[in-house]
Amino acid sequence: MIDIAILGLGTVGGGVADVIRENQNEIRHVLGDGVNVKYILDIRDLPGVVNDINIIVNDPDVKIICETMGGKEPAYTYSKLALEHGISVCTSNKELVDAHGVELSRTAREHKCSYLFEASVGGGIPLLRTIREACGHERVSRIAGILNGTCNYILTNMKAGKDFTDALKEAQEKGFAERNPAADVEGHDTARKIAILASLVSGKKFSYEQVTCEGITKITRYDFADAERRNMSIKLLGVYDAEKSSVNVSPYLVPSTSPLYAVSDVFNGVMISGNMLGDIMLYGRGAGKLPTASAVVSDVIECAKTLGTTIDTGFADLEPAEVGKVPGIPAGQKFRFLEA
Ligand code: HSE
Repeated sequence: MIDIAILGLGTVGGGVADVIRENQNEIRHVLGDGVNVKYILDIRDLPGVVNDINIIVNDPDVKIICETMGGKEPAYTYSKLALEHGISVCTSNKELVDAHGVELSRTAREHKCSYLFEASVGGGIPLLRTIREACGHERVSRIAGILNGTCNYILTNMKAGKDFTDALKEAQEKGFAERNPAADVEGHDTARKIAILASLVSGKKFSYEQVTCEGITKITRYDFADAERRNMSIKLLGVYDAEKSSVNVSPYLVPSTSPLYAVSDVFNGVMISGNMLGDIMLYGRGAGKLPTASAVVSDVIECAKTLGTTIDTGFADLEPAEVGKVPGIPAGQKFRFLEA
């Protein structure tokens, strides 16, 4: 049995426990061993939950931690401490990966363990592993992605005539939205995700602060009617352009000929353009308890298969990126247009 701990019993942390319980046979099949949740840590006093990280990091049985707390602290301090004890960390925390992912990856390498963050971008889509393993040899010229399930859910519902506030409330009830949903609707969550993707494919560290960012709060129902007349939809996209070395988040007009046009509700779609591969699109549930937890568990299995070594995500070697200017929106237009 591989003993693990879950830090943070929120939506995703609870999902990790559920996935491990429900799919224990499948995990055993791919890993050749079972996974046991030995500890759950939460800052709240809940039955069966520990509050002291030292109990976990000082237990030699614990080999892997799932950090599903969100936010920078105490997630940063706890992750760092675990890695310094040689315990691998699998996280869904995009804010932490964006802010401290390079440092934590270096700490993991020094202590022969891993820092993995599949669930931080694209929810349940096996996105980072695909980029890392199947596209590592490609020269990526562009990534354009619908990367926030909450915004896509809101935009899909607004297009169908629903009010912004009602659609946001539904997204919150379904467990898609961030604790502070401004991070979703103002585009900051997408900014963190596109910065992580740009860093993975470019070999340079792009950070959230370098992303030119606009959210979905200024979109009206008249904009949807106008887009529909022109055979387009409005989507919040994160875009990385390798030639310009630029990253931006903005509502885009997406033509019906693009595969991103039909990506609706909580789904995410990420188009990656490689010099040999051409365009591919990865698609799936971008938020929600079980899809996101499934991505965390996929990292747990990868760590469990490679105990005592470090899985190289490339993050430990990143140097800061020099970021290029994002062209403005053409005069007389309200939105950017997604070129094929
Ligand atoms: N609030 C995020 C979203 C959660 O809606 O996409 C998944 O990162």
